[in-house]
Amino acid sequence: MGASGSGKTSMRSMIFSNNPASLTSRLGATIDVEQNHVRFLDDLILNLWDCGGQDAFMDSYLSAQRATIFSHVGVLIYVFDVESREMTKDLEYYHDCLLGLSQFSKDASVFLLVHKMDLVRESERTAVLHRKTAELEKASGDITVRVHGTSIYDETLYKAWSSIVNTLIPNVRNLSKHLRIFAEACNATEVILFERTTFLVIATSSGHSDQTVDPLAPHALDTKRYERTSELIKAFKQSCSRLREEFHSLEMELADFTAVLDEMTKNTYILVVVHDPTIETAAIRMNIRIARRKFE
Ligand code: GTP
Repeated sequence: MGASGSGKTSMRSMIFSNNPASLTSRLGATIDVEQNHVRFLDDLILNLWDCGGQDAFMDSYLSAQRATIFSHVGVLIYVFDVESREMTKDLEYYHDCLLGLSQFSKDASVFLLVHKMDLVRESERTAVLHRKTAELEKASGDITVRVHGTSIYDETLYKAWSSIVNTLIPNVRNLSKHLRIFAEACNATEVILFERTTFLVIATSSGHSDQTVDPLAPHALDTKRYERTSELIKAFKQSCSRLREEFHSLEMELADFTAVLDEMTKNTYILVVVHDPTIETAAIRMNIRIARRKFE
């Protein structure tokens, strides 16, 4: 949910329909609610409601459609345009949505996206996000909210959506445990599992995808590596489809590391990153092939 023009449909079309950011300016306003059903990991179906943000629709969600809109909500994702000139009105609607949620879906998680961060000068982004976060937390009262700064023009969108989806996957810890075992078997620095269509991070061998890595560790890993990979591979897949080629897998052998990205199950891809020069990519691929059965 969020005001009209805040960017809800744009992010949905990029993440779930693989559209590039450049096409989002052609999207029309959403009329009422548009629903998407995304199959995740075979048996988890994500039912995504994109609620058009024009005032007439918002008023209807909060009155006549209240029970329909706010019942059985797993996650409320509220999008605020960082440059909104109507923040008071945005916050009033947001507050009313929180009341609807507390009435019909008490246990729902709440994610707040301060969107279009690319419009803020880079040097001011951290300060702006801090200020907005404080304002939104205050407006949320006792409700715990997670605030992310996002833009369709960089990897921040993938970070926010991976953490949203992570709260909905019931067995993430279990998956991380299995990925850890697999990483050990491959002598890999890290193993990451991505969802096939969205390329959002499902689980990693290092546990929580938000985990920061000690910069002094032997193979210091970039803290933005997951969302950067999602963004790059999505862009690469789009390039492949423009050439009418299908993306299947990827192998990189660089001076200090090797990476193999390959299909794991029907709905997932696995990325194995190895810093041991004695390990051949063929061996990693063989391990992936053998492990597939376990992950199905
Ligand atoms: P309703 O359907 O009316 O509720 O609007 P919406 O929230 O779905 O907005 P929509 O996704 O249609 O986006 C409105 C405009 O914002 C489009 O022109 C997008 O290209 C633009 N936009 C979306 N995300 C971003 C972003 O991260 N940065 C910038 N600069 N523009 C964005």
